[in-house]
Amino acid sequence: MRSLTSSFLRVIRTSIALCFLSVAAISALAQYSAPKAQGEWWKHTVIYEIYPRSFQDSNGDGIGDLNGITSRLDYLKSLGIGAIWLTPIYPSPNVDFGYDISNYTAIDPMFGTMADFDHLVAEAHKRGIRILMDYVINHTSDQNQWFLQSRSSRTNSKRDWYIWRDGKGETATSKGQPPNNWQSWFGGSAWQWDPKTRQYYYHYFYVQQPDLNWRNPEVRKAMYGVLDFWMKHGVAGFRIDAVSRLFEDPQMRDDPYLPGHNAYGDRNIQHKYTDDQPGVHEVLKEVRKVIDKYPGNPVLVTEADEPNVAALTKMYGDGDEVQLPMDFQIADVNKLSAPRFRKLFHEIENNTAHGQPEYFFSNHDQPRQWDRYGDGKHNDEIAKLMAVLELATRGTPQMYYGEEIGMRTTPPARKEDVRDPIGIKGWPKEKGRDGERTPMQWDATKMAGFTTSGKSWLPIPPSSKTYNVAVESKDPNSILNTYKRLLALRQSDPALRDGTQINVDNSNPDVYSFIRQIPDRTILVALNMSGRPHTLSYNLGAHHVNGTHLRVLYSSQSPQPDSVPLRQVVLQPFAALVAVVE
Ligand code: GLC
Repeated sequence: MRSLTSSFLRVIRTSIALCFLSVAAISALAQYSAPKAQGEWWKHTVIYEIYPRSFQDSNGDGIGDLNGITSRLDYLKSLGIGAIWLTPIYPSPNVDFGYDISNYTAIDPMFGTMADFDHLVAEAHKRGIRILMDYVINHTSDQNQWFLQSRSSRTNSKRDWYIWRDGKGETATSKGQPPNNWQSWFGGSAWQWDPKTRQYYYHYFYVQQPDLNWRNPEVRKAMYGVLDFWMKHGVAGFRIDAVSRLFEDPQMRDDPYLPGHNAYGDRNIQHKYTDDQPGVHEVLKEVRKVIDKYPGNPVLVTEADEPNVAALTKMYGDGDEVQLPMDFQIADVNKLSAPRFRKLFHEIENNTAHGQPEYFFSNHDQPRQWDRYGDGKHNDEIAKLMAVLELATRGTPQMYYGEEIGMRTTPPARKEDVRDPIGIKGWPKEKGRDGERTPMQWDATKMAGFTTSGKSWLPIPPSSKTYNVAVESKDPNSILNTYKRLLALRQSDPALRDGTQINVDNSNPDVYSFIRQIPDRTILVALNMSGRPHTLSYNLGAHHVNGTHLRVLYSSQSPQPDSVPLRQVVLQPFAALVAVVE
């Protein structure tokens, strides 16, 4: 008995000591080791999205993890990125691979421990790299304690933390019909019958992802506490998931149907009463206030797949909401179209909120840009062209792991190999998102340097033999070295860093050109988005530019010319040029 008591006391003492240690470690991280705040650093950084399951496995289980990421920080530093966005690493049943969170303030053991996370943050900071977390705000996992309590009885104190409604025409023996026609983004009704408490709960995404009720003040308090928790662990901000889905119409009106059916066989629907409802901006303002309590100018990035630039602009608020709403308009152009890019860049560059744009072309939800923009013959040239478009603009670029080596989309060939439930449900029309989530390709070995295990959670794509970091590092003209050059240029050139972005040569159907300008320095960026050669004669007089020549900083043409006359710029098919006007 005595020895039991003393070991109990020892455990308590150790826990108290560990508690103090971790509080001390946390505040040390937050206060001392964060990269030096440089004002609005997020305007000058490049964000790199990591899908942790697929970046680097360190323990041989075939799944990427935090220590794996830490081991690749030197690579990321040499690439030239400034911030990492980690898709969810919290405990999760992994129905939606981490976007179904069962505990917001812990690390899934599959990825490592909290100590591993703190180590990653500290090591990243040493290299001047910040860490952004994914903030899954709209829904939790159905295995989250909050939901388990909520579904346990109608009178549970957390019942109202989720959206519970009676069915239509329910009787003692039948569940009746769902409360209305709202549909899940992932197919089927957005309502799930719960036999125990005989009500339906609402889920915008999978059945296992019940929506939180953001009208409940206790939900807000708990979710803001999550932000505090991670800010104290030294993160530099958050990417907010699915933010426009936060509220639903209180009158529960049916959504209007559209013609046709989707890949899941449902009637197409306009999510009129479940997207962008009033209340979203109030929450964003509150979220911003929480993070603004912390030093280092933390940033908010949102998944803002808004229908147009006017709606996207609202995400900035009066400078008191999101600093970087992701621009899905530009990401989703989905073809090489000079007029389309010209129009969209002009609109967002002139947004009425004067907000900083955030550009990306690939992420974990959509096929990779190598395939989407490639024409099947010149994909590598086009990948480099897209790199120039992404990295020479004024907005903050957001890369997706592997785009810098030209990783391609490798969807499963057979239904039985699909891991993403939307692929299982929608096969063969919807193959799911596995294709863009395959393991990072580090070298030409069998497992591409991703894992020491003979098996990885998704197969290693055959393209890894030739498209990988090791092989491309040795080739000065590889996609990887093109990214490196452009990232270094973006850092070092003051006009590329801070200059305004203005479209020029506005009626050209094939070549998209713009200038980046600060007083006394103008850079011309020209992108031939066609398979035809073009000779261009630029007149930049209207922009108070007097030069006659272009001194080349980057050209996709080989050998690269040093200087080109402004009145005779020759661009081969899919060529890109970045040059100073002199
Ligand atoms: C976001 C994520 C996506 C996820 C969904 C539901 O769109 O990017 O991967 O499935 O939210 O959380």
